[in-house]
Amino acid sequence: MNTTSPEFVRIFDTTLRDGEQSPGCSMTPQQKVVMARALADLGVDIIETGFPASSQSDCEATAQIVRDLRHTTLAVLSRCLPGDIEASAKALEGAAKPRIHVFLSTSPLHREHKLRMSKEQVIESIGTHVAMARRYADDVEFSTEDGTRTEEDFLHEAVAVAIAAGATTVNIPDTLGYTTPEEIRSLFQRLIGTVPGAKDVIFSAHCHNDLGLAVANSLAAMEGGARQIECTINGIGERAGNAALEELAMALKVRNAFYDIDTRIDTRLLVPTSQLLQRLIGMPVQRNKAIVGQNAFAHESGIHQHGMLRNRNTYEIMNPSDVGWPDTKMVLGRHSGRAAVGHRLRALGYTMEDEQLDQVFAQFKALCEQQRVVEDDDLERLMTGGVTGQGYRLSSMTISDRGQRASAQVELSAPDGRKVSESALGDGPVDALFAALANATGVKLSLESYSVHSVGLGADAQGEATLSIHHDGVQYEGSGTSRDIIEASALAWLDVANRILRRNPGTPSANERQAATA
Ligand code: KIV
Ligand code: ZN
Repeated sequence: MNTTSPEFVRIFDTTLRDGEQSPGCSMTPQQKVVMARALADLGVDIIETGFPASSQSDCEATAQIVRDLRHTTLAVLSRCLPGDIEASAKALEGAAKPRIHVFLSTSPLHREHKLRMSKEQVIESIGTHVAMARRYADDVEFSTEDGTRTEEDFLHEAVAVAIAAGATTVNIPDTLGYTTPEEIRSLFQRLIGTVPGAKDVIFSAHCHNDLGLAVANSLAAMEGGARQIECTINGIGERAGNAALEELAMALKVRNAFYDIDTRIDTRLLVPTSQLLQRLIGMPVQRNKAIVGQNAFAHESGIHQHGMLRNRNTYEIMNPSDVGWPDTKMVLGRHSGRAAVGHRLRALGYTMEDEQLDQVFAQFKALCEQQRVVEDDDLERLMTGGVTGQGYRLSSMTISDRGQRASAQVELSAPDGRKVSESALGDGPVDALFAALANATGVKLSLESYSVHSVGLGADAQGEATLSIHHDGVQYEGSGTSRDIIEASALAWLDVANRILRRNPGTPSANERQAATA
């Protein structure tokens, strides 16, 4: 692919800078190195590794990434201050493709209240500091912070000065996520059409998501002539975040006939890269997040599943494997129809007459009243006449969190009717609870994600706990609801453990293990 072609857009990833500086997203230098390698494999053109003048940790991370990645352009951020530019140049020493990224606010609000600088001072500072950065690097980007809220004639002047001083990329950030697609498209078109020297540099868009428009605005800026887009994995970034890389890449791929602009992104790595970031920073994406959310390719409603079984294009505009998911997920639950249940049973090797399917479907519906999702092992038990929906049930629990460590005691009724009682210590009440449940059931779960949220409002509010784990290559998700969130967590844990036990019926409980050793 020709990177100078007008039909090519550079992907500038700022997960490690704008993303990392937002609450809950910070990374250690080692984590940044791991993430940078994944971004390079993904095919991003430029990785912004940090803001060296602001932190020693960013200097360390950048120095390590500089040694590691020799084919990707590495950028670092600097204010219009000599010390910042020197720190950036130092952090990038030895880089194969270094870029110094200099920024200064141009909007009236920022000039007056943040910088306390006049227009003339801003213009002079841009010229001086871009020229200084050029003495350290051939590749210099200049960003007009809060550019979309800047008077257009002044923005025009600021961009012209940056180009004259040697900027090779000019970035117009929508710092507050305030613009709209039509505004930003025409702004880029006018700037590129009229600023002296604009045709010799790359114009870039950097859109924040305060109004949920970051991706739409980035695509519109591209229509206006931007050939670099700044974005982050999972859309992390200041406040509501930045434009999500995975959404941009797939919009350009799926709607290529419309945009006619390519990227170098290997889209099959989008989901693994997103999941790596989720694990590194401990921030899961919402289930219905486009492209990388658990539900992005999941279908539960009967009508949708029926359509999908006839032709997947009825309800899918992209193939899950194109973004790195193993396959479409047909979730069998309360909303599923007979056709989807029959299809799943056939896939499991069961052939049956219509009448038998009617009977199994009725049992399936009854089971859906007890559990949210019906898995393959539940269907197997329906087919083989096994009792489903039974397993360990929570009889009582006592939690204490007064000492240095929390303790939990649980009493369960086992599938055979016996009572099982176990206790454990943990780092907190939930940790102790899960350890006690593991002792009682003999099932060890290593959680991938665990969350609690409230369902309903006021006195009627219930806590819903959801957790997901991988066990023997199978993904399990469980949920539990109760007024008490600790009890909801216990129910969610048991939901998963019971599924695993149904798949592996020989697992001994603590009582059985004790009896065996007595
Ligand atoms: O949002 C913004 O304006 C920025 C600049 C520093 C590029 O992140
Ligand atoms: Zn930003």
